[in-house]
Amino acid sequence: MISVGSNILSIDQLEMGDIKRILQVSQQMEPYARRQKITRVLEGAVLGNLFFEPSTRSRVSFGVAFNRLGGSVNDTTGFQFSSMAKGESLFDTARVMSGYADILVMRHPQEGSVKEFAEGSIVPVINGGDGPGEHPTQALLDLYTIQKELNLEFNDIKNIRVALVGDLKYGRTVHSLLKLLSLFDSMEFSLISPQILQLPDQLIELLKDRGHKVSITNELRSGIADVDIVYITRLQQERFSSEEDISQYQGNYSLNHQLYEQYCKPGTVLLHPLPRDCRVGARELDIDLNKLPSLAIYRQTDNGIPVRMAIYAILMGVVDSVHTNARDVYWSRPSDAMTSIE
Ligand code: NCD
Repeated sequence: MISVGSNILSIDQLEMGDIKRILQVSQQMEPYARRQKITRVLEGAVLGNLFFEPSTRSRVSFGVAFNRLGGSVNDTTGFQFSSMAKGESLFDTARVMSGYADILVMRHPQEGSVKEFAEGSIVPVINGGDGPGEHPTQALLDLYTIQKELNLEFNDIKNIRVALVGDLKYGRTVHSLLKLLSLFDSMEFSLISPQILQLPDQLIELLKDRGHKVSITNELRSGIADVDIVYITRLQQERFSSEEDISQYQGNYSLNHQLYEQYCKPGTVLLHPLPRDCRVGARELDIDLNKLPSLAIYRQTDNGIPVRMAIYAILMGVVDSVHTNARDVYWSRPSDAMTSIE
């Protein structure tokens, strides 16, 4: 159960009521996220956005979501430029940074690091990705996207068939998303990966224990037939032990337009947490799918803003004040013309 002042470190913390609230508040944030209205409810508040692993969209969307609520953002990127390179502990870094900011987002290459960091913090901490561990806010925006793409009321989130493709071993977005989806009823999961990159056993057990249908295959073609969602992931090259390891699997789990047409049901929604590897030989989600209407990857990234705004508003106790003093937007918005955010 989460409330004002909570950390968000893992999906394990969330109860059904939390998830429903986050999705509902995300919906309320839409006009602000889409620049149709302005709110300054977090004016004066500072987000400390600490990213010690590569990132573009997560770091920026955590920052922009805070800005859209009227708050200021202080970014720290790169381990080598931080005091941790001088041997500072996670605890000390957290205590110091939490004296400067009102809420912290933290990404770090080590599993469990964000939890350790949170122990030193005197303000709420959000896990922005801890190595191969979890990425809970990505899972929440993925769920929000699934709900919208399939046009479902909250109570109808059940009986969804989801194929997860690629690096299921190291992909933290997959770990968090599966934990989250497993809280709903009667889901079907098709887990598609080379054997060496299979989902960790304890997660497979969790899905089965919660009564879901789970099929495990290394065959992309059969695995993506007859599902509602295909969630593709990048090989987490940075977590492999050697270069040879990766070359064996690169390109083996690539979906392109021809395979989509041949094996997926019409309308199957394609998701990817991004970044996708667009280099020739990788292309887990080929650029020839870019015009497909059910390619939802950019709507998915756009959804990161309202969902992260909702999370800040809940943790900082301003959900009910967001609409107070809301103003209209006067500038011309090129985004009005963009279908991806309508
Ligand atoms: C992912 C991550 O960093 O875990 N990206 C993201 O946050 N949207 C996925 C990845 O890096 O492959």
